Amino acid sequence: MRLKGAVVVITGASSGIGEATAIAFARRHARLELGARRLDRLNVVADRCRKSGSPDVHVRLLDVAQRASARAFIAATLRDYERLDVVVNNAGVGWQGRVHEMPEDKVDELIATNLKGVINVTQAALRWMIERRCGVIVNVASVAGFRAAPYSAVYGATKHAVVGFSHALRGELSGTGVKVSVVYPGVTSGTEFFEGRARSSGPVYPVGWVANVIVRAARFPRRDVIVLPMRLVQMAEPILGGLMDHAIGEVRRRDLPS
Ligand SMILES: NC(=O)c1ccc[n+]([C@@H]2O[C@H](COP(=O)([O-])OP(=O)(O)OC[C@H]3O[C@@H](n4cnc5c(N)ncnc54)[C@H](OP(=O)(O)O)[C@@H]3O)[C@@H](O)[C@H]2O)c1
Repeated sequence: MRLKGAVVVITGASSGIGEATAIAFARRHARLELGARRLDRLNVVADRCRKSGSPDVHVRLLDVAQRASARAFIAATLRDYERLDVVVNNAGVGWQGRVHEMPEDKVDELIATNLKGVINVTQAALRWMIERRCGVIVNVASVAGFRAAPYSAVYGATKHAVVGFSHALRGELSGTGVKVSVVYPGVTSGTEFFEGRARSSGPVYPVGWVANVIVRAARFPRRDVIVLPMRLVQMAEPILGGLMDHAIGEVRRRDLPS
């Protein structure tokens, strides 16, 4: 996929990984459609993208959890550019704590944003992509998509679901010219994701570095984009997974209020 002039849609572009990804695509002169719920923040990101080299940037209010909003977002992109090359499904939320204490509205929010949001935006984009026999969908999962951490059970469940959705869709689309890639970031600095919550243990990746991994996934859409040393964790999962459940549970218990 050639990125210069390509039309790239990014959900959750108002902060963190989405914002950095927008700037990384802008540096490669892609045209951008940025969506999130905070329009003021999107406008700031859009200015940075223009200064970074993007020839065209549009921002839109978007709530990925609402099917109608996702459809309107993609329809607006097609009106603005009359094409659509890359969708980065990045919008996501987290929650940490004991499963039996998790409020129902938080459960609903995580599923609606992290899973249904990906499905909503993908469904809205697919018809156009399949008809034109081109396009790349990059889904931002997490290492929690293969190594779910204790005290983030619902988050891990949504990210496992995103992985399953992406792999099945990739098979469904084989031969259509539309590609699907899943990126699995580890703990990333420079985002708002852990605000008010303890950060998971393990290596920390700079947000700009993660953004470049996402851009590369759009250019070369591999099925799974897992960086070292997380690839080793994934490979160890069938053998050491049970042990890791307990070990990570032990570590994370120390951060929880009693
Ligand atoms: N940070 C990490 O360590 C890490 C690690 C692995 C995976 N991830 C994943 O990376 C993605 C981005 O997270 P981040 O780390 O960049 O966190 P972040 O800074 O909190 O960004 C989350 C983004 O999602 C948007 N968003 C949330 N709910 C939305 C909704 N209903 N509709 C549209 N946009 C929505 C937010 O914008 P508005 O509030 O303006 O809507 C914001 O732009 C998430 O999918 C997350 O699960 C993060």
